[in-house]
Amino acid sequence: MVNVIGLGYIGLPTALMMASHGVEVVGTNHSQGKVDMLKAGKTTFEEDGLDELFQAALDGGIQFTTEYQVADVYIVSVQTPYDKFTKKVEMQYVTAAIGDVLKVAPKGAIIVVESTVSPGSIDKYVRPYVTEKGFKIGEDIHLVHAPERIIPGNMIYELLHNDRTIGADDPDIGEKIKVLYATFCGGNIVVTDIKTAEMTKVVENTFRAVNIAFANELAKICRHDGMDVYEIIKICNMHPRVNILQPGPGVGGHCISVDPWFLVGDYPSLAKVIDESMKTNDSMPDFVLNRIYEIMKEKGMTDITRVGLYGLTYKENVDDMRESPTLQLLESQERHLATGLKVYDPYITNDVVPNQYHDLSEFLNAVDFVIIMVKHNEIKGNMERLADKVVLDCHNICSLPGVYHI
Ligand SMILES: NC(=O)c1ccc[n+]([C@@H]2O[C@H](COP(=O)([O-])OP(=O)(O)OC[C@H]3O[C@@H](n4cnc5c(N)ncnc54)[C@H](O)[C@@H]3O)[C@@H](O)[C@H]2O)c1
Repeated sequence: MVNVIGLGYIGLPTALMMASHGVEVVGTNHSQGKVDMLKAGKTTFEEDGLDELFQAALDGGIQFTTEYQVADVYIVSVQTPYDKFTKKVEMQYVTAAIGDVLKVAPKGAIIVVESTVSPGSIDKYVRPYVTEKGFKIGEDIHLVHAPERIIPGNMIYELLHNDRTIGADDPDIGEKIKVLYATFCGGNIVVTDIKTAEMTKVVENTFRAVNIAFANELAKICRHDGMDVYEIIKICNMHPRVNILQPGPGVGGHCISVDPWFLVGDYPSLAKVIDESMKTNDSMPDFVLNRIYEIMKEKGMTDITRVGLYGLTYKENVDDMRESPTLQLLESQERHLATGLKVYDPYITNDVVPNQYHDLSEFLNAVDFVIIMVKHNEIKGNMERLADKVVLDCHNICSLPGVYHI
C-alpha cells in the first residue's frame, strides 16, 4: 500500500494516477478542509482531465484522510519554499511529514521524497533526523528521492509521458520504486543516487530560469535603445543553433521562481549567473510597472484607477497564483505607496486583491488601459474587445494596431 503525504498540486494527481492504475493508495493531508472536500468528491484545484482522473481513482478505491497510514511506501509531496533572506531551501515541512511517517512506518518501509530539495538536503536534514529518531537507514527505513517534472496546465499528459529520475541509496530499492512509478509512467525512468537526483531537478528549473532571464534582459536592452526584441529574437532563432525564449512580465509558480535560489543559497560564491538571472526575472514586474507609468505619461493619462491588469495567475489557463508576476507588481506598487490598479482573472473567483473584478465585461468597462499580464485563452479569444483601449501586451499576443510592448 502507498500512503501519499501532501495532496497539493503534485501529491494529489500523483496519488490519483497510482490509484487509477491498480495501486492501493491512501492520500493523507493535514488540512481537514482539503480532506473533507476530496471525500465529498471535489477536486481542490482546476486542471484539464483532473476530474476524470479523480473518478478513475475513486473507482480504483483511493481513500483520503488526515491520518498517516501503515504502508509499504510513503510518498512525501509537501511544499519546499525558500528562505527569502538566506535563499536556502526550507525543509521543515518535509522533516515534519517524515517525523509523522516514522510514528507509523513498519520496518523496511520506503520513504520517497517527491518534494523538490537542493542537492545534499536529504544528507543534511533527513538522514540525521531519521537516525536521531532511532531508525537505521537501509534496514528499518529506506530513503528515495523521486522529483517531479510536470507542468500545471498539462499535468495529466506529463505524468503519463515524462521521463523520470529516481535517486536511491540502494539500487534494488530504486528499482522497486521504478516499478511503482512505471504502473502509470510511460517515459524512461532513470535510477541514480539521491544527491544526483536532487541536483538534476534543481538544475532543470535553473536552466529554464537562466534562459528566461536572457530573453528578459534582451527586452530591457531593446527597450532602452528602441529596438524590437520580438523581431530580433525571431531572426536570431533562424540560426540553426540558437533558440531564444520569449520575454515576459516575470516568473512565478512553485518551481522556476524558487528552485534556482537553492543553488544561490548553497553556493553563493559560485552560482553567479544563476543569481543575476533570478534578480533579472524578479525585476520584471517592476519593469512593467515603470512601462505603465511611461505609457500613461505618453498618453496624457493621469487616473491609475482606469488602468487594469489582466491576469493574476503565474501562467496561462491555470488557477495557481503563487509568486505570480501580477502579485509581485501589486506589492511593488504598494511599496511605492500607490494603489488603484484594477485586476481581473477568469480563474480566480474569490477576492484576493483590492479592486478585483470577476467579470470580463465589467472589468473592460472600468478601464481605459489594459496590461496583458497572463495569456489566458480567454483574452486571446477576446482581443477585438481591446480595440478601443490602450494596451500593454507583455506576451506579444495582440495584433491590434498601436499596442505597446515591454
Ligand atoms: N506545483 C508544481 O508545479 C510543482 C512541479 C514540480 C515539483 N513541485 C514540487 O512538489 C512539491 C509539492 O508542491 P505542490 O505545488 O504540490 O505544493 P502544495 O503547497 O500545493 O501542496 C503541499 C500539500 O502538502 C500539505 N502538507 C504540508 N505538510 C504536511 C504534512 N506534514 N502532512 C500532511 N500534509 C501536509 C499541504 O497542506 C498541501 O496541501 C514541492 O517541493 C514543489 O517544489 C511542484
